[in-house]
Amino acid sequence: MNGERSPAAAAGPAEHFPAGFWWGAATAAYQIEGAVADDGRTPSIWDTFCARPGIVADGHTGERAAEHYHRYADDVALMAEIGLNAYRFSVSWPRVVADGTGPVTEAGLAFYDRLVDALCDRGIMPVATLYHWDLPQALEDRGGWLERDTASRFAEYAEVVANRLGDRVGLWCTLNEPWCSAFLGYGSGAHAPGRADGAAAFEAVHHLLLGHGLATQAIRAAAPGSRVSAALNQGAVRPVSGDPADLDAARRIDGLLNRIFADPILRCAYPLDVLGDTAGVTDWRFVRDDDLKVIGTPIDLLGVNYYQPDLVGAAAEPATGSWPFPSAERVAFHKPPGPVTAMDWTVDPSGLTEMLVRVTREYDIPIVVTENGAAYADDLVDGRVHDIERTSYLQAHVSALTEAMAAGVDLRGYFVWSLLDNFEWALGYGKRFGIVHVDYATQQRVLKDSARWYANLIAHHQAVT
Ligand code: NOJ
Repeated sequence: MNGERSPAAAAGPAEHFPAGFWWGAATAAYQIEGAVADDGRTPSIWDTFCARPGIVADGHTGERAAEHYHRYADDVALMAEIGLNAYRFSVSWPRVVADGTGPVTEAGLAFYDRLVDALCDRGIMPVATLYHWDLPQALEDRGGWLERDTASRFAEYAEVVANRLGDRVGLWCTLNEPWCSAFLGYGSGAHAPGRADGAAAFEAVHHLLLGHGLATQAIRAAAPGSRVSAALNQGAVRPVSGDPADLDAARRIDGLLNRIFADPILRCAYPLDVLGDTAGVTDWRFVRDDDLKVIGTPIDLLGVNYYQPDLVGAAAEPATGSWPFPSAERVAFHKPPGPVTAMDWTVDPSGLTEMLVRVTREYDIPIVVTENGAAYADDLVDGRVHDIERTSYLQAHVSALTEAMAAGVDLRGYFVWSLLDNFEWALGYGKRFGIVHVDYATQQRVLKDSARWYANLIAHHQAVT
């Protein structure tokens, strides 16, 4: 990588991070692996969703993606070149248990075994996410996350993976962003499986959380001594004014985005205000005795994914889109001030500090930032990508971490989203989040300037600790 060192990185915040801090990058199976029919993998809900005409931008699918399934060794070499000491990937459930339950697909499981070995050989800690949205279609056909049984099947699969990889995985993430699985998958229908039913979304929330609790127990039984977490969307939800109606809108969205997941996991209870707000749409009859004890099975760290703050206020009209239920009615989502990324997401690192401080105050648990990053329209010119905006986004968010730590947050690691450009779900390949550029025609990888900046930061941190 030319060994270039920028003065900016040398003067950066590396010295504020403790020794052993995890500097990582994250990916997810369906977004990078491709090879969707290799070695016995069966379709997931995302394969099915992508096959529906007009659903995913430009008709893109994860069929080839970044071909990581066959190029993983080269990709691990890139991670080593950047100097990552941790890598967060997800295991594809339909690759490992084709029907979602029953026989294990040895060839699929062996892929993750090889990946984990390759990481360990390079001194990179494997961080395994068990569910990053690719439910086996066979389980969706039996009701998906609206079926309580899916939570038990998830725990079975967790046990299979933990039995095989548990001696080397340094951190487990049970679920990734269950808000998206429940509210985009079953509420608005913007994500797979594409169902649009406000009441169903809450049933999915509960079964996902139950799956998290059961999987946590299964991992602990299969691989004692494991560290377990979940990667939640946690945001800074800000009211547009101090007007009581705006404050109430912010409370309701904070409940549906943040507390509906974090409270059951870390306090064994759904927030009472959320139960009250949602009474008109669901009776929560699917919550059985002792479920909350299971969901609240202790975890070791909380993973949080942060991209941008939310700015909300009261609205005259019912909301549509991702929040199609009565408790989010009459909420307006305002554009937070500041520059935006290619996703039209506002760049505001103060929201990251605010969220980390708030999670610490409310739940008092060690935290790992399991995702943070930005999409921009990159240009590959003469073998280089000068992604100044992404670099400054990352730099500003790393500084925001130091502010959070100064305020008392026990932060253990930071994972950039994403290592590679990849399949951005319903938006296809048009949005590039990688710090490594992928030419999808040739599959050639090129480190962007942001990767070089990150490499300098990590090297500097290692030199000073
Ligand atoms: C969060 C999701 O976990 C990830 O899959 C997605 O690509 C990024 N956000 C960017 O939208």
